Amino acid sequence: MPEVIGVIPRPHVCEPSDEAPFEVTSSTAIVVRPTPEEITLAVVAADLLSSGAGSPVEIRYVDDGSAGVIVLRLTPNGSAADDERYTLTVTAARIVIDAPRRSGLVHGLATLRQLMRPVGVGADRRLVAPAIRIEDAPRYRWRGLSVDVARHFFGLGELKALVMLLARYKLNVLHLHLTDDQGWRLEVPSRPLLTELSGDSAVGGDTGGFLRTSEYAELVAYAEARGVTVVPEVDVPGHVNAALHAYGELSPSGQPTDVYTGIDVGFSRLSVALPATEPFLRDVFTDVAAMTPGGYVHIGGDEVTEMSAEEYARLVGIAADAVHAAGKRVVAWQEVASVPLSPGSLVQLWDHRLDTTDLIAAVRAGVRVLLSPGPHAYLDMKYDASTSLGEEWAGHIELRDAYEWEPSTFLTGVDPAAIEGIEAAVWTETIRSLDELTTMLLPRLAALAEVAWSSPENRDWADFRARIAQHGAMWDRGDLAWYASPQVDWMPGLP
Ligand code: ACM
Repeated sequence: MPEVIGVIPRPHVCEPSDEAPFEVTSSTAIVVRPTPEEITLAVVAADLLSSGAGSPVEIRYVDDGSAGVIVLRLTPNGSAADDERYTLTVTAARIVIDAPRRSGLVHGLATLRQLMRPVGVGADRRLVAPAIRIEDAPRYRWRGLSVDVARHFFGLGELKALVMLLARYKLNVLHLHLTDDQGWRLEVPSRPLLTELSGDSAVGGDTGGFLRTSEYAELVAYAEARGVTVVPEVDVPGHVNAALHAYGELSPSGQPTDVYTGIDVGFSRLSVALPATEPFLRDVFTDVAAMTPGGYVHIGGDEVTEMSAEEYARLVGIAADAVHAAGKRVVAWQEVASVPLSPGSLVQLWDHRLDTTDLIAAVRAGVRVLLSPGPHAYLDMKYDASTSLGEEWAGHIELRDAYEWEPSTFLTGVDPAAIEGIEAAVWTETIRSLDELTTMLLPRLAALAEVAWSSPENRDWADFRARIAQHGAMWDRGDLAWYASPQVDWMPGLP
């Protein structure tokens, strides 16, 4: 494998040249054509680059062939909506990124951002990008991070910071676990008490919070502009104490349950026999789908221990119907594989201890698989026994454990073509701040991003280890807290 400058995920084709680097100066401009789509992109590009360049970046609408510019070229070619490929050419004179879709241009910018590094000190400090040609495209269509904002709440500003982090590593799905026993985090217009009564609580009696519909819309648009789709999860038919606290008619007693701030699972449930249950499910999923421009809504389905298989199937069926009626596809945790789901639904594997017979049968019937295996992808697991945050039920996950696994052979008995992609997950029972969250994510999220993006022949632990060593300094420059895994010889940043 040829030596690569530290880009993560590793690009498909990467040809460094001996030419002089491109220097970003105070007069470097971004060039796009003046279409609404490209103007939005230029604004995102300026946002991505200005923090590195240290000064505002000018946007121009005509390419007169002059030097010192970064040209973003959208060349649609009738390509499919999920075509995320791009090419990036850096010469001393100019940088050109070409892609058939806007998402490809965003990925090209992410690569460029990683290529750029500060040189010089004091007044002579500037950014340079080495001369190179890159051709790149993802292996998997779905490359996600699931964030539990229910156990502890993370608000709009923090979620925007996470979107930026996802975009840096070409991850394209932010899955929000919005509801659980401890709190309800998204305003639902038809059911205002969900957030009025269950929005403020959190694990351990900590302060919660929730996203207003306007804040959710802002997050979705911010993410979309950066190539990231938001997938909302309303977890049913278990994990519902926040709903039962807000609406007493969802409980057999007719009375609201108490607020719950512990971390047990499996004790709360909806009841199909209650007249309020079906309208609740239909209203909530209809509203959440209507607020969500992306194609998927997650209905949860995990860890329901005290319910007959028949009742579970009926409740999951009502939720899935409501999502379909709103024109969206269903995503759900692995346990729903016991229920017939329409082809094209996505089942998310997470618990390596569960039997996969139903899942394999569901895939043969047309369901697709999202891989979030606990021992590799659950980034709330401790790195090692000395990690103060996190859990251990799926074992310890050091950087190499997050990196060295192969999705196509992970689930025996399933056609590798049925694997839609990979999602890292972070649960927040023990995680209370953005710094704590990114400490659990970094560096492991970068490893999973490479598993999701780069082809197997392009992946190698020793090579990854050398590349990621350069990223600690980037996280420091971005004020992102991270864990200095002893598996890497981290390179210091410039003074
Ligand atoms: C899960 O971790 N309960 C999906």
